[in-house]
Amino acid sequence: MCFTNCKEFLGFHLEANTMVIPQIGALLTNEKIFPEATKFKPERFIDENGKFQTKPELIPFGVGKRACLGEGLARLELYLFAANLFNHFKITTIPSNPPKMAPIIGGTKMPEPFLTHFEKRF
Ligand code: HEM
Repeated sequence: MCFTNCKEFLGFHLEANTMVIPQIGALLTNEKIFPEATKFKPERFIDENGKFQTKPELIPFGVGKRACLGEGLARLELYLFAANLFNHFKITTIPSNPPKMAPIIGGTKMPEPFLTHFEKRF
């Protein structure tokens, strides 16, 4: 039961000043929402007419008042960075040392260090 300095949310009692950290990853890797969630499948975001489609659960930048302030900048940067990288280089794995899928979990989720091969396109 909640008293004065407490809010109730979806049956949880949150005392005033409780830190709540949304676990966005749990949503983004939910197999019911994104089947084969850890696979690179750009087609999951393209509808039957070839148009871009998204899902309300796709919230890498968070939602609401505390959502990421840098979303616009980050999207532009990521687009320019990825487009230039793939334009300039053909990137392939080294078969004897492929990247492992098990993540290192900390403040972020990241892959173990791995070697890869960059070939200049021109
Ligand atoms: C791919 C890049 C990025 C991702 C995925 C990302 C994601 C996020 C997420 C999930 C949050 C927390 C939202 C929440 O608490 O619910 C956040 C907060 C924030 N991000 Fe980002 N972010 C990115 C890049 C950036 C950049 C480039 C900037 C600034 C130039 C930035 C500035 C901030 C700030 C200031 C907050 C705190 C907002 C607040 O608590 O009021 N982020 N970001």
